[in-house]
Formats: sequence, structure tokens, C-alpha cells
Amino acid sequence: MPAPMAAISFRNVAKTYGNARHAVRALDDVSFEIEPGEFFGLLGPNGAGKTTLISILAGLARASSGSVEVLGHDVVRDYATARLSLGIVPQELVFDPFFSVRETLRIQGGYFGVRRNTRQSEAWIDELLEHLGLSDKADANMRQLSGGMKRRVLVAQALVHRPPVIVLDEPTAGVDVELRQTLWQFITRLNHEGHTVLLTTHYLEEAEALCGRIAMLKQGKVVALDRTAALLAGTSSGVLRFRLTTPLPSALAAQARVTGEVVQINARDAREVETILATLRKAGAEPEDLEIGRADLEDVFLEIMHGGAQAAV
Ligand SMILES: Nc1ncnc2c1ncn2[C@@H]1O[C@H](COP(=O)(O)OP(=O)(O)OP(=O)(O)O)[C@@H](O)[C@H]1O
Ligand SMILES: [Mg+2]
Repeated sequence: MPAPMAAISFRNVAKTYGNARHAVRALDDVSFEIEPGEFFGLLGPNGAGKTTLISILAGLARASSGSVEVLGHDVVRDYATARLSLGIVPQELVFDPFFSVRETLRIQGGYFGVRRNTRQSEAWIDELLEHLGLSDKADANMRQLSGGMKRRVLVAQALVHRPPVIVLDEPTAGVDVELRQTLWQFITRLNHEGHTVLLTTHYLEEAEALCGRIAMLKQGKVVALDRTAALLAGTSSGVLRFRLTTPLPSALAAQARVTGEVVQINARDAREVETILATLRKAGAEPEDLEIGRADLEDVFLEIMHGGAQAAV
């Protein structure tokens, strides 16, 4: 009996760009599976290999070794079927400036064998336009759209053939708050209806809110893979947050996350909070708006990416 089929399966995927003299190892032995119906997050810093992995999944790049399947279809040997199961929102904005939004969606549907101009296909296009806030732009030329609107069209394009597996490579980069909310409502609805979702994003609060499981890539390797709740529970700490108008004492610099005047430092228990406050006092620094909070996914991410920075606290 074969095992229940994964929505996406990556097996020992490696990818090297360039030649023997100058090689970039973008992916290094990546293996994991995404089950049907999952909302799965793929996270990692710039250059970690996320888009490369998605390009291989989409058949736009070839793995140097290893294999990838979509619903049991190998993306190389069985490309057409695998591709038909996928709706991919690419990270880069690519579009044809000569068509209107509606034409762009019709053409895209045509590539995937959606029968044109039937009542059903038009109703779905209308629904996509509405959910993505594009109804009033349906007849506008692609080149007349703003950057964020073009990205909305990319999302609509990916969904036009109702793919069972939806892959979003930073879909909310440059997208305003309102659309982000409507986009996530819509994608969540599709997920509840059974579509599998693979998401990459640098907005970790999005990943935390949406993804049931998360894989983290670092320099082409999977360095964490777990349920989101387990990743959050596995972090040792709470977080001490405060505002500082003077420079941060150098003794705290290595363990702190600084955004403008706001400083965050992981603290496992009251004793660590005391130690941090004592260090601040000794340096004559006066923290304002002090609060102790729960660690979020961003803390977990930084802890994992900086390999044990937490242990040094
Ligand atoms: N076509 C290419 N030719 C050569 N090197 C490439 C190519 N595409 C990507 N790379 C390299 O492969 C590595 C992974 O890049 P990739 O685009 O997959 O990262 P990413 O995780 O998507 O990053 P980001 O968060 O910035 O989108 C980087 O070192 C990048 O420079
Ligand atoms: Mg990328």
C-alpha cells in the first residue's frame, strides 16, 4: 500500500548555480513533505534559497540533484500534470503590459485549459477580482496599475485555474494593509475548502498567524521544521521590551534586537530580567515604557538563525 500522497514532497533537493570556478550552493539536501490541506510557511533570510526551491517546484529551474513531486507527480518527468496542480504567485512582478486585467486572467486560464468565456469561468474571474479589490480595474491596462495592484493581479492569475496547491512567494511585499487583510481572508477560505498553501514571507507575524507548520531555511539547509505552536513553545523565553533614547550599553548589544529606539532582549526568567536591568542601570541608561512579553515568531526566527544566541544570555 502506498503511503497517503503528500501535496508537495521535496526529496534531497540540492541546487548549485554557476560553474566549477564560481559555484553558489543555493540548496543543500532539502527534504520535507507538505500534507494536503496544510497551510505551510517557508521562512528564511534573503538568499536562503526559498525562491530557488519554489522555482524548482514550478519547473522553472532544475534541481542539481534530488526530486520534487506535486500530488505524486514528478515536476520533471510529469511536468504538465504537476504544473496544472499548482498556482504560483511569483516573487518578481512579470506581466504583459498590453492586456487589460480581465484579459490577462482569461489568457492565463487558457494556458491551463480553462474554457474561455463560459459563465462559470467568468464568474470565477469576477470573484477573484472582487476578493482582490480589482473589480474597478478589470478593464484597465496592466501598465496603468500601481505596483501593489500588479501584485494583486499576480495572485488572481495564480488562482484562475483553481489549483489544489497554492504557492505564494512573498505575496504581500509592497501590498497595503487593507489588501493584506482581504488577501489572507481569501487564501484562508481557500485553505479551509481544502487547498494546500505554501507561503514564503518576511512578515513573520503573518506566518505566525496563518501557518500550521513552518520550515526555516538558512543558507540552503532546513534548520527548523515543526508546528508553529511547537516552535513558539520551544523558545525558552519571554521578551523584555523598552525604549531607550541613549545608546544601548555594549554589554547588551549582542543579545538585543533594536528597532529605532525600541530594544527587545530575550529573558528566560525574573533573574535574567534583573540582570539586564542592572546592566542598564550600571551604564546610566534609563529605559522607558518597560514591558515583559511573550516571545513571538520573530524571536524564534532570530534565535534559530543566529544559532544559539539565546544560550549566550
Ligand atoms: N539565477 C541565479 N543564478 C545564480 N545565483 C542565483 C540565481 N538565483 C538565485 N541565486 C543565488 O541562490 C541563493 C538563493 O537565492 P534565492 O533567490 O532562492 O533566495 P530567497 O530565499 O528567495 O531570498 P529572498 O528572501 O531575498 O527572496 C542566493 O545566494 C542567490 O544569490
Ligand atoms: Mg525569494
